[in-house]
Amino acid sequence: MSLPKRIVLVGPMGAGKSTIGRMLARELGYRFLDSDRIIEERCGANIPWIFDVEGEDGFRQRETAMLDELSAESGTVLATGGGAVMRPENHPMLKKDSVVVYLRTSIEQQVERTCKDRNRPLLQSDDPEGVLRRLFAVRDPLYTELADIIMHTDRKSPRLVVRQLVNRINPKTPRQQRQVRKEGRNHV
Ligand code: S3P
Repeated sequence: MSLPKRIVLVGPMGAGKSTIGRMLARELGYRFLDSDRIIEERCGANIPWIFDVEGEDGFRQRETAMLDELSAESGTVLATGGGAVMRPENHPMLKKDSVVVYLRTSIEQQVERTCKDRNRPLLQSDDPEGVLRRLFAVRDPLYTELADIIMHTDRKSPRLVVRQLVNRINPKTPRQQRQVRKEGRNHV
């Protein structure tokens, strides 16, 4: 079974897209690309500044342009921002020649992983948990719809998630291959 040109990680803030993406890329010998970090580098400013000055809409325009550019790259693992699924025009860019992995994570884990973070403007509210719940309600169906693989990450170390993903993407043993055929598009 051959490896896909690109693996795209989608999922909410705090799902571990960057950590898992970097480790997965190393494991597969792929290049790791993080859409948010590249936007920041190009812009010379961090995401809170972009939201402040250009609004969420300005950020989303930059994000769409970035996804368009990065969807032309091969041999890559691409970590996307949690809201990348919100614009329908991004969907073909995310899907093109890619295996899309949804890192599905409980609200509790998202809260735990993001509570000290000042770099996520949408969570700078009195009720970040409420925000995460509302975003999840809207976005979970979109992540699910786009995903080739749904990977549950709760109570799993990044290392275990990466091992399960590698087995799923490039099954080596006949047993792993049978398992993948049986599961089809699945929850791991
Ligand atoms: C956002 C998620 C962030 C970043 C921006 C908006 C969102 O990325 O793109 O703050 O809309 O969920 P992470 O998912 O990497 O935190």
